[in-house]
Amino acid sequence: MNIILLGPPGAGKGTQAQRLVERHGMKQLSTGDMLRAAVKAGTPVGLQAKAVMDAGELVSDEIVSALIGDELDALGEGQGAIFDGYPRTAAQAESLDAILKGRGRTLDRVIELDVDEDALVARITGRFTCASCGKGYHDTFEQPKVAGTCDKCGGHEFKRRPDDNEATVRTRMAEYRAKTAPILPIYDARGIVSRVDGMGEMDDVTAAIEAALAG
Ligand code: AP5
Repeated sequence: MNIILLGPPGAGKGTQAQRLVERHGMKQLSTGDMLRAAVKAGTPVGLQAKAVMDAGELVSDEIVSALIGDELDALGEGQGAIFDGYPRTAAQAESLDAILKGRGRTLDRVIELDVDEDALVARITGRFTCASCGKGYHDTFEQPKVAGTCDKCGGHEFKRRPDDNEATVRTRMAEYRAKTAPILPIYDARGIVSRVDGMGEMDDVTAAIEAALAG
């Protein structure tokens, strides 16, 4: 299966993608993670993307579509992909169709995480990840079982994203409303959108996504 997780910043795309990876062996393709890796490595793409990301605006369609194409080429045959944070514009949605077609893949389902934007600021500003394995946590909603130690890999270092401050989050949400939400009708017209309540407990959201994928 190839699926898109769609929703505003903090909707839970990354959280739920990690769970689908663990359960189904699919590959999470997060353009945000790819861009952060490029910034960290100081590649030409990273140098171009850094200021745009820090401002909460969108990186160019050409850059992200090229990143996605490369990652898809590295997938095993028959391994499903979870698109997390991509596509984000009508042009990216068009590119994704061409990218999938060129690789003999189809888009099976779009999961829209339906959320209350005001609650998302608290989610985002409280989030942190393990510096070694990337497992996500939250100051209030998901702390490591043993304080200071990652549940997954035992690491002791954690990090926070530079764009996870309230002002930047508001810009990211405005970008979502203006450029990303308008692509939903493209997929609605194909009858492949499932709307899932993203405001419930994480396990309930996971169960609703599993039901949508099975249906
Ligand atoms: P990106 O990394 O994609 O960020 P985003 O879309 O803003 O999404 P987030 O990662 O912030 O949120 P999420 O939905 O994954 O939430 P999470 O699961 O972590 O993009 C960053 C930047 O890169 C963009 O601003 C842009 O500049 C650039 N970029 C990336 N892709 C691009 C593209 N295609 N085109 C152009 N530019 C691009 O959850 C958040 C927190 O809430 C976590 O702490 C989690 O523990 C908690 N949580 C999750 N679910 C629940 C729940 N049900 N209940 C309680 N807490 C929960």
